[in-house]
Amino acid sequence: MLKKHVFVTRKIPMDGLRIIKQEFHASVWENEMPPSKEQIIENGKDCEGIVTLLSDPISADIIERLPNLRVIAQYAVGYDNIDLKYATKRGIIVTNTPGVLTETTADLTWALIMAASRRIVEADRYVRRGNWRVAWGPELLLGSDIHGATLGIIGLGRIGAAVARRACGFDMKILYSSRSTRESDKSLPENLGAQRVDMDTLLRESDVVTLHVPLTPETRHLIGKVELAKMKPSAILVNTSRGPVVDEEALYQALRSKRLAAAGLDVFAEEPIRLDSPLLELENVVLLPHIGSASTRTRSTMAKMCAENLRAALSGARPPNIVNPEVL
Ligand code: NAP
Ligand code: GLV
Ligand code: GLV
Repeated sequence: MLKKHVFVTRKIPMDGLRIIKQEFHASVWENEMPPSKEQIIENGKDCEGIVTLLSDPISADIIERLPNLRVIAQYAVGYDNIDLKYATKRGIIVTNTPGVLTETTADLTWALIMAASRRIVEADRYVRRGNWRVAWGPELLLGSDIHGATLGIIGLGRIGAAVARRACGFDMKILYSSRSTRESDKSLPENLGAQRVDMDTLLRESDVVTLHVPLTPETRHLIGKVELAKMKPSAILVNTSRGPVVDEEALYQALRSKRLAAAGLDVFAEEPIRLDSPLLELENVVLLPHIGSASTRTRSTMAKMCAENLRAALSGARPPNIVNPEVL
């Protein structure tokens, strides 16, 4: 039987690529720089399947020009880069990689909480720049305590709940806001004593606010000038969700004026962040290049999951992680 054509927009870990190459006539984009819109169309025009990254803008006009397309298999849990409505209208299956990256991303969220609270990266820069000239400073690089503090989680889904569980060892008070009650709420251990509150209360009372909502029209700029003004001046904001959930300009102003103590960011309005972004000039922000799920093991598991979704969809089976089941 003739193998079906698929296009993979970047080299993903071998454990996934192996399955894809065995199963399909696969062309893989080998460059480190992502394919342009035209290049996606050129490479994908005969394909029934495409493996995409969160940095590939799979808009309606791209989908329109891929006439044979039956499945978009996203190598990520978030899929805000895909015009889901249009794909669904065309009957194209969209899949993602939920769950397998939850714990890894929660770990990284904690790395940011700790780095921002205790000024870890700033302190490292201080040492390397040769500024450490006095053996021990009674008031050198003072930060804020994590233990005993109040943690505010916006979006208590899979990752939000995993972040909550980790707070247990730090004796934190946990507040969260979520639209609906879901399984993840129920899966939180009772003894965490996590309390559901409205956004206002969460912003006013938390020492650490961490974001775990998907990017949707509703969550775009969920945290802007007004919300930042409600936070304690001693508080820190951590974002490992999607950049546009925060109004970056308002955040910059709040950090610069010390209206907000610090921030830890893994995601940005524009990725990669522009080198002339004013955020790069601030000491009180930790900047990471979108590495939430970046452990060797998790990326490999994501690759296999993505390949299995692609295989199932193109063999007429129900993919394990379908985002738009209404197309089946
Ligand atoms: P999830 O399980 O679907 O959790 C998302 C949560 O957000 C749900 O509890 C959802 O509640 C809530 N929510 C949605 N819209 C909301 C709104 N308008 N207001 C308040 N809460 C809202 O997803 P997940 O697996 O935890 O992943 C969350 C996001 O993290 C992904 O979408 C992705 O963008 C991001 N992410 C980033 C990295 C990284 O590398 N930095 C890695 C993985 C994921 P409802 O029940 O009300 O819908
Ligand atoms: C990463 O950001 C993801 O959505 O998986
Ligand atoms: C610090 O190193 C201390 O001993 O208090």
